Amino acid sequence: MENLIAHAKSMRTLAHAPYSNYTVGAAVLTSDGEMIGGCNVESSSYGLTCCAERVALYRAVAAGHSSFKALAVATENGGSLCGACRQVVWDLCGDIPIFITDNQNNVKKTSTLQLLPEAFDQSKLK
Ligand code: THU
Repeated sequence: MENLIAHAKSMRTLAHAPYSNYTVGAAVLTSDGEMIGGCNVESSSYGLTCCAERVALYRAVAAGHSSFKALAVATENGGSLCGACRQVVWDLCGDIPIFITDNQNNVKKTSTLQLLPEAFDQSKLK
């Protein structure tokens, strides 16, 4: 997991966050052992901003991956995943370990189910 956390930290340096100045990096580990990263990308039309976690996951899906083992997120202060990203992580990854790190290299380990208990998902859509 150290490599995944380091990858999330390095992705954070690529963030495009001129409006909030809050940079975020993320890295997802695929079941076949690949690490795919993302950073937040903000828009002048604020609502079009995409979080680092979703950029990482959507990149991974677009590269042909459909099974994921872990996610790492890097922020300055250990800020946690937003609600929208929690839903997307649940939809695409299910219950996986999630590591959140900050500028002091603290690492908090959590999981999708801890962050989004009683989630809505496709099982309710049949
Ligand atoms: N942000 C993320 O990238 N991930 C999160 O889970 C929380 C928020 C970004 C979105 C925006 O660019 C900035 O952080 C401030 O909200």
